[in-house]
Amino acid sequence: MKFSKVLLLIVVLVIAFAVVGCAQQQAVDAASKADVEALKAEVSALKADVEALKAGGAAAPAAAQSEAAAPAAGKKTYADLTVCYPQLGAESDWRTANSASLKQTAEQLGVKLIFSDAQQKQENQISAMRTCIQQGVDVIALPPVVEDGWDAVLTEAKDAGIPVIIVDRSVSADPSLYAAHIGSDMVLEGQRSADEMNKLLPDGGKIVELSGTTGSGAAVGRAKGFRENLNPNIEIIDSQTGNFTTAEGKPVMEAFLKKYGDEIDGAFIHNDNMAIGAVEAIKAAGFKPGDIKIVSVDGTRGGFQLMIDGWVQADVECNPLLGPQVMEMSLALANGEPVEPETLTNETVYYPDNAAELLPSRQY
Ligand code: AHR
Repeated sequence: MKFSKVLLLIVVLVIAFAVVGCAQQQAVDAASKADVEALKAEVSALKADVEALKAGGAAAPAAAQSEAAAPAAGKKTYADLTVCYPQLGAESDWRTANSASLKQTAEQLGVKLIFSDAQQKQENQISAMRTCIQQGVDVIALPPVVEDGWDAVLTEAKDAGIPVIIVDRSVSADPSLYAAHIGSDMVLEGQRSADEMNKLLPDGGKIVELSGTTGSGAAVGRAKGFRENLNPNIEIIDSQTGNFTTAEGKPVMEAFLKKYGDEIDGAFIHNDNMAIGAVEAIKAAGFKPGDIKIVSVDGTRGGFQLMIDGWVQADVECNPLLGPQVMEMSLALANGEPVEPETLTNETVYYPDNAAELLPSRQY
């Protein structure tokens, strides 16, 4: 090869290396710029997440994707919640089921439940509430034994910033003193009971009433609704309290039977436990199932058995399984969220014709 040709080849190779090197550098520069832009975008997204979290709102999408199940910052979860439940007593199967519902739901959700049993005494409920106020619980859920006499302790809870949910029975206190009520429409239960008695005694007759605890929202509401719907040809010849218990229901019915004997065509009994006691008395007095038409309230397994055995002709439902609703509302209140002031339970009426079929699936 001639010297001039070799020289030309060297020059060409040098130019080629220079061009390739320059192109590589440009590619590297471009890639770096893209990386920097990408990093800048990521930093901005993270800054937005931090701001959103500081404000207590929903996190930006990038954070939401990685923590989909996590609560928003600053919000309480069930695990942070302490709920006080000063239960009114253990007078009936309904009450036992209600206590179990609250306890089981709290356990499942990880809520700390401060539970007490006031043995049907209002003063015990008030003193349990005061202890809970001192402990600084998040929410008090109160099933009040009677309607009146709650103003002072409700005011104390309000002043302490502790919301109160009235559960099951109602109170006569001003609604501004508590956050909400969750429970049954007791007046409607009374109306439904009267509708059933009207059907059972189409030609009229004389009936007795075994009432629940005197002054309780359940007894007051049921008595009111019953009288509103009862046909005028049916006369309530007597009404006495059996305090919602089997033990007290029996002697009340015994006394009615002693006083009125065969005159009694029907009985409106405010709960299944009193009906169990009343049926014992009716049986002992020599009556047969159906001689005295009975309408009871609750829809417990005991009430279902009385229908199967022919003693009770209709059982008006009152649902005690309020735990899930109480816990859900407690969490909302603890987080300062608005709640419905009144949540009424959806209920029905049960009859003897399918009581045997339904009994095995009854939860209480
Ligand atoms: O307040 C609900 C009533 O209380 C139920 O009908 C009764 O069984 C309970 O004791």
